[in-house]
Amino acid sequence: MAWKLRVALALSCVLAVGALVALGRWNPKQDGPAPTSRVEAQRTNQDCRQCHATVWDEWQASHHAQSWTSPQVQAAFRHFGHDRQCESCHAPEPVTARGAEALVALRAEDRASGVNCLSCHALPGTDQVAAARTVPDAPCQPVAVPLLSESRQCGACHTAIFEDWSQSRYRTDGKSCQTCHMPAIADRPGGHSHACLGGHDDDLVRSGVRMSCEQHGDELVVSVVNHATGHNFPGERHNRVLLLQLIERNAAGEIVLGRQEIIKNITPFRGESSADQIQVDQVYEARFPVVEPPVTAEVQLLYKRFPWHADREALVVHQANITLEKP
Ligand code: HEC
Ligand code: HEC
Ligand code: HEC
Ligand code: HEC
Ligand code: HEC
Repeated sequence: MAWKLRVALALSCVLAVGALVALGRWNPKQDGPAPTSRVEAQRTNQDCRQCHATVWDEWQASHHAQSWTSPQVQAAFRHFGHDRQCESCHAPEPVTARGAEALVALRAEDRASGVNCLSCHALPGTDQVAAARTVPDAPCQPVAVPLLSESRQCGACHTAIFEDWSQSRYRTDGKSCQTCHMPAIADRPGGHSHACLGGHDDDLVRSGVRMSCEQHGDELVVSVVNHATGHNFPGERHNRVLLLQLIERNAAGEIVLGRQEIIKNITPFRGESSADQIQVDQVYEARFPVVEPPVTAEVQLLYKRFPWHADREALVVHQANITLEKP
């Protein structure tokens, strides 16, 4: 019954078109472009490299370093006519220039370095850098700035995820963004990973949710629980797609049925809806009627980083096989 798979494929195309329609519906919240400011930088980003080579290499490989040059980001910018407010968080002035509660401003220079060392560490108007502790004799003059180690620092740009986190048990448990995304590094005393792994890291995505399958009478119940993500899953709202795929095979191994259920679809930029993300500790339940038992069902939780990705390119977050019997 390959036509059922074809239906699933057609559905993927509808999804992709839906993505474009949704993007087109975007409306800026505030009137006029965000100001482009130029905070007098005491140092350039490149300066940090000579003395902090290890941290530099971690950052260089991170998505922060690619937040401007990424082809996907540039494609989205073109779609929005290079709106400055849109671009601001992707090549920002230091967070401390306006405080963590205000939106960051777009840098005038060196945009290609994206979210760089200065975005998080520069203290505009001074020769100092923000650090977890004051180090008196260091050439870059690190001074203790508590904000650096708080979730609010990240929340200056990760506004939606910060909101989700704020309402979860992770805030009251004292688990900050840095706890999970910038873990301590054993062989670098006082060091924290600047890799900032996220939705592009397969293992981290897998670690955030669990999936289980059970037959209840004439239904197959698939449960997905967000047990270890510090915020809604998937974290990013606008591009990620999460779906369940069910392929059923008879005793001869022939496919008799293919079905899909979309858990999370795309959301228009700035149409801040979290309706279909799986919240912290929430159990998402999908129920599929058992149609032609006995069959062996292969259940996959699929994750797409961008809606135009084909199903076969999706990350298989979790997979399970279950035999469905006559109830
Ligand atoms: C000329 C060398 C040099 C340059 C350039 C330099 N640093 Fe440093 N930095 C040091 C030294 C030495 C320390 C002392 C602690 C250490 O060895 O890491 C330090 C410490 C720090 C700390 C605090 C470390 C801690 O132990 O908590 C931070 C944060 C920091 N630097 C950030 C920066 C940033 C951001 C830049 C670029 C704007 C920069 N540094 C440029 C040499 C440098
Ligand atoms: C100045 C703005 C800004 C600040 C501050 C900021 N981020 Fe980001 N972050 C971004 C942008 C923009 C991206 C998207 C980069 C991309 O994928 O193109 C991003 C991406 C990420 C990702 C996803 C990486 C991936 O693989 O998908 C993680 C995780 C992350 N940031 C964690 C943090 C943490 C933790 C902090 C606080 C210590 C922080 N960020 C502070 C702007 C910021
Ligand atoms: C308030 C800061 C901010 C603004 C404004 C912003 N972004 Fe982002 N963008 C982020 C952060 C932070 C991420 C990382 C994921 C997350 O935290 O949701 C991101 C992720 C992305 C991604 C996914 C990158 C990847 O590799 O997965 C794209 C594409 C993107 N943004 C494009 C845009 C476009 C287009 C606009 C304007 C409509 C825009 N951004 C406005 C902060 C911002
Ligand atoms: C997204 C924000 C962000 C960016 C970008 C960033 N840092 Fe950090 N950095 C932090 C945070 C948060 C800490 C940890 C503070 C703590 O210990 O609580 C830190 C710690 C450090 C330290 C202390 C030692 C260590 O290994 O953790 C140094 C040195 C440092 N950063 C340098 C840099 C340099 C150099 C760059 C650019 C290559 C950079 N940082 C980019 C947020 C950032
Ligand atoms: C308890 C650990 C934990 C905490 C706390 C946490 N996260 Fe995450 N985060 C995860 C896991 C696991 C993932 C991978 C699953 C996913 O993509 O949603 C993730 C994913 C992300 C992503 C990538 C989202 C995407 O779709 O690409 C960003 C950005 C991010 N987190 C930022 C933050 C920020 C900002 C905070 C603090 C406000 C934070 N996280 C707090 C565990 C955590």
